[in-house]
Amino acid sequence: MKILVTGGAGYIASHTNVELLKEDYEVVVLDNLSNSVEESIHRAEALSGKSITFYQADLLDYETLDAVFKAEKFDAVIHFAGLKAVGESCQIPLRYFDNNITGTINLLKAMEEHSVKKLVFSSSATVYGHAKEMPIKEDAPLSAMNPYGRTKLIIEDMLRDIYASDNSWDIALLRYFNPIGAHESGEIGEDPNGIPNNLVPYIAKVAVGALDNIHVFGNDYDTPDGTGIRDYIHVVDLAIGHVKAIEKLNSNPGLVTYNLGTGVGYSVLEIIKNYEAACQKALPYVIDPRRPGDAAVCYSDASKAERELGWVAKRGIKEMCEDSWRWQSKNPNGYNK
Ligand code: NAD
Ligand code: WQD
Repeated sequence: MKILVTGGAGYIASHTNVELLKEDYEVVVLDNLSNSVEESIHRAEALSGKSITFYQADLLDYETLDAVFKAEKFDAVIHFAGLKAVGESCQIPLRYFDNNITGTINLLKAMEEHSVKKLVFSSSATVYGHAKEMPIKEDAPLSAMNPYGRTKLIIEDMLRDIYASDNSWDIALLRYFNPIGAHESGEIGEDPNGIPNNLVPYIAKVAVGALDNIHVFGNDYDTPDGTGIRDYIHVVDLAIGHVKAIEKLNSNPGLVTYNLGTGVGYSVLEIIKNYEAACQKALPYVIDPRRPGDAAVCYSDASKAERELGWVAKRGIKEMCEDSWRWQSKNPNGYNK
């Protein structure tokens, strides 16, 4: 089976490529390298001993996209490509709407034109907005908290509309919680541009000596230690979830939606403690005010994915921190981009 992986040089996709190749899928990556480097593709090839076809192209360029679909006969698409920084999306919303929504519309047009109607879409727990009930189930109310989240919600709505109009599509909406960690080899991992926005990449930079202090955004939440609680999921477990989703699409399920999380929440201070154990040093932190827009607590009910995909996250917080640290310490400057 030949899979188009959009955004295939990125963090989650590079781990998914390894899992797809392991299961003998043919992988074709399309990425404009706006937030990644080609090296991640070569490392995924080296880890799996198999090759990946790579097109450096932008989803906004429909002609090239069409040519790629013509040249390759895809059986399915995993659509990771998108901009993902919440804060940046509030500064330049139009760029996010154009890149994420127009890019997806182009992809869907090319899929329809070439009769490729199996799609896995990278959605996010952000589509639940500030959920009232924990753990969050797939049928919880949806809302957007920021322009980035709005792009995910709009794309989900578009896909529901497309499926309603033509039920020959098979679509899996995967709502990721907080992906962290890296491949156990330490060869591929997350390599954000500039100062990281997310907690664990920030901690990793402090651990490796590139940044001075961790900033804990608020210790006055209504949680046991006052810091925010999230459902962190190991990126390799998440990657395996995509292989399971492709298998599911092969049984023609129609449009399906799954939370991919562990169902367990950890606080910021618990993550710092676990990371200290992994890197075997004390990590200095300061308490800052709350970050606007942050929820106190967010964790999944991932039992639907377990029931219907036979998928469950197996790696715990210890492995998440150890694997993140292995990647960061082996590659202090990431992929050296
Ligand atoms: P990433 O930035 O590492 O990967 C995204 C890739 O898409 C990058 O390689 C980038 O160069 C590429 N890209 C962006 N716009 C493109 C375009 N117009 N044409 C071609 N390529 C383009 O991000 P990631 O963390 O691996 O996230 C992958 C997907 O999962 C994204 O859609 C993101 O919104 C979603 N997601 C991520 C998280 C998270 O915390 N990392 C959580 C939930 C959902
Ligand atoms: C985790 C916790 C912060 C940084 C984001 C997106 C979400 C999804 C995943 C894409 C929170 C605290 C953070 C720091 C801190 N992405 N924190 N110091 O905000 O849960 O989710 O990534 O879809 O849409 O919003 O992740 O890692 O930024 O924050 O104290 O330097 O760590 O307040 O409690 P978040 P995060």
